[in-house]
Amino acid sequence: MDKITIIGAGRVGESTAQILAQRGLCKVLALVDVKEGAAAGAALDIQEAAPLFGYDTRVIGDTDASIMADSGLVIITAGIPRKPGMSRSDVLETNRGILDGIMDSVMEYAPDSKVILVSNPVDILTYYAWKKTGWHRSRVFGQAGVLDSSRMAAFVSLETSYSVKNISAMVLGGHGDAMVPMTRFTTISGIPIEHFLDQETIDRIVERSRFGGAEILALKKNSSAYDAPAAAIAEMVEAIVLDRRHVLPAVAILEGEYGERNLAMGVPCVLAEEGMDRVIELPLTDTEKAMFDETIVNIKNDLKRLK
Ligand code: LAC
Repeated sequence: MDKITIIGAGRVGESTAQILAQRGLCKVLALVDVKEGAAAGAALDIQEAAPLFGYDTRVIGDTDASIMADSGLVIITAGIPRKPGMSRSDVLETNRGILDGIMDSVMEYAPDSKVILVSNPVDILTYYAWKKTGWHRSRVFGQAGVLDSSRMAAFVSLETSYSVKNISAMVLGGHGDAMVPMTRFTTISGIPIEHFLDQETIDRIVERSRFGGAEILALKKNSSAYDAPAAAIAEMVEAIVLDRRHVLPAVAILEGEYGERNLAMGVPCVLAEEGMDRVIELPLTDTEKAMFDETIVNIKNDLKRLK
């Protein structure tokens, strides 16, 4: 891909930029941040690491959103992070206001791009951004499930002491406390985790995955997680840039799948050159259906606050 833009040069934005450059996923990487010097400084720092890592990506940064011109992909990480004790929904109004201006710029300067939302509450902001653009849903989607699934896989590895290699976890639903870790589809080399772990341990993994973001925030106090979030974004970007047709959980606009429309939430998707190419609809067990119902109620309550 010729050009990728990351909006928001905070910790998530900067870490993502570093990984994308290192993987050589685009020729030009643009960082935009309203804070004077933040994007330019981060861009220069990453550029200066290029000889050591051996990448030829040109990294630019500015407060001026027009540097995103003609980007094929725009990743939005800008917004205020929550503080310890806050939920992701508590930053909805502020971040919606920030997103409004950003989406105006995206539509003006990168009208043919695909957009990956990362800012929280990501399910609500993905819907808001999609609605505002009027674009096809394949072009506006969000990151949450890749991160939550990676956290769950990491916890499975820690509890079993088995390699993370071939541990595959799946977390769906909203990126909030009612997210839905799908233990039925969580496996080690294809073997369901129930084979290795008792129910109490699985319950502990589920709980820790649900509150994975809050656990890090409580430890660091002044910062949310950014290493795993950045790696999760990079996984999605790679699927798109390399047209992998990679099946990954993503925040997608639903058009009747899972019995819902006019909302966005985490579901298994096919990520390819076109963006979010397809939503995969899984038959749910009664227990999973109850968890989906709960996460959907939370999302709908937050969506009402957009009006
Ligand atoms: C987290 C924030 C980024 O889950 O939502 O760490």
